[in-house]
Amino acid sequence: MKQKILVIHGPNLNMLGKREPEKYGTATLDDINATIEAHGNKAGIEVHAYQSNHEGSIVDKIQQARKVFDALIINPAAYTHTSIAIRDAILLLDIPVIEIHLSNIYNRESFRHKSLVCDVVTGQITGFGMYGYIMALDAIVNILHR
Ligand code: DQA
Repeated sequence: MKQKILVIHGPNLNMLGKREPEKYGTATLDDINATIEAHGNKAGIEVHAYQSNHEGSIVDKIQQARKVFDALIINPAAYTHTSIAIRDAILLLDIPVIEIHLSNIYNRESFRHKSLVCDVVTGQITGFGMYGYIMALDAIVNILHR
């Protein structure tokens, strides 16, 4: 059976393209999803993308990922820095989880330096823009196939 990866995009990422392009780039969320899907197809992996501006909806989605998906790529966006609920939901999973950020959260405002999920994920990719999603997918392919 084809392996399935869930990609979760947190709040305000639906505005990519229009939102602070100097920090987040000019690609829209649809562009990013299309790129990840195409890259996943090449590796024989099914990619499902989900975006929400709501913390509880993201928690629901992570819970539903249990036993359904083989890996999770998540950009929790601003919830990275605030959400114990998303952290706790990630702890329910026993699959590889990659935390990703378009910008480098460590060279921005100090309140972005703290990630509440960084120590409960498999690894973190931060600061490589849209290319980071390709890196995340490659990392997952590597983990799943080794
Ligand atoms: C972000 C970084 C967060 O600090 C911010 O709140 C975002 C996007 C990123 O992808 O660089 O919304 O997760």
